[in-house]
Amino acid sequence: MGNETIYILAIESSCDDTSAAVLCNKKMLSNVVATQQIHEEYGGVVPELASRAHQQNIVPVVHQALSKANIDKKQLSAIAFTRGPGLMGSLLVGTSFAKSLALGLSIPLIEVNHMQAHILAHFIEEETMQSPSFPFLALTISGGHTQIVLVRNYFDMEILGQSLDDAVGEAFDKSAKILGLPYPGGPLVDKYAQLGDPKAFPFTKPRVAGLNFSFSGLKTGILYFIQREVKKNPDFISENLNDICASIQHTIIHILMDKLKMAVKQTGVKRIAIGGGVSANSGIRKALKESEKSQGWTTYIPKFEYCTDNAAMIGIVGYLKYQEAHFAEQNVTAKARYVIGS
Ligand code: KG4
Ligand code: ZN
Repeated sequence: MGNETIYILAIESSCDDTSAAVLCNKKMLSNVVATQQIHEEYGGVVPELASRAHQQNIVPVVHQALSKANIDKKQLSAIAFTRGPGLMGSLLVGTSFAKSLALGLSIPLIEVNHMQAHILAHFIEEETMQSPSFPFLALTISGGHTQIVLVRNYFDMEILGQSLDDAVGEAFDKSAKILGLPYPGGPLVDKYAQLGDPKAFPFTKPRVAGLNFSFSGLKTGILYFIQREVKKNPDFISENLNDICASIQHTIIHILMDKLKMAVKQTGVKRIAIGGGVSANSGIRKALKESEKSQGWTTYIPKFEYCTDNAAMIGIVGYLKYQEAHFAEQNVTAKARYVIGS
């Protein structure tokens, strides 16, 4: 497949963001994301509503991505879409749309694993971004995932550890909910944490063997602590919000950094690339930067728009698979559980 110019239209609809992107080879031409506000009032993503919103959004979002990129659909080389993992009702919208469009245009269809895409987002060509060389360790942290993956090559990845219950983003969001903050509370915890004392309230870190994570115990610990303190002083939360947030964030960062150190020790790999919405967290970014000096690591943090769920990351995987003529058949189906490497 030599040096021809490849245009990929990519579609992402695994959770609550409807996104479409156009890539020219490894460069992003457009990356449109329609975030669904409807879930805010329910304090979390409601699958049925997400699916319905995807159906409403997908046509205008794809249209906008093509027109922003100034590309006619006849110029497209292939359509890439998120096959899984994610919410079935949400995945079905993107999958069916991609299949029909590829069929209508008589161009190849490329199925993409969403978790692999979070990692390969590091290979989108951008002036401000450097791609890690192989092998590297990827830490994918978001509202739906927490994984440490050993990346030997584009499509040779091994999950070394993952959360056994809640994802890191859920730990942030559920803690925020306990404090009475609106959904998604992660960014607010980050904001208040910057003004607080991270050592004010020590929370117990879960003990999980190996490189796996667990965050549900931490959440319960925080809940009981808050209930206890509020009984003594009804204004405890408002009087200590910054310190509580700083302490929660400090504990979560400690858990992540401890596991990363363990993964580096186990593999000897010192290149760390992060991805997922929680990579926006200022404390995590700071801890990673500090590790460059203290641990001798090289860290990679993609542009924020490639951290959260977006179609450009699906597009880069589409491009890499196109190079290997790794196409999907028209009978391909969405996969709610889709493990990297399966
Ligand atoms: O990747 P993402 O946009 O969607 C998926 O969950 O797949 O990640 C969203 C998650 C939410 O849990 C949100 O609270 C969290 O990322 N988040 C943050 C920050 N920004 C977003 N958590 C902590 N600190 C932040 N600054
Ligand atoms: Zn994601």
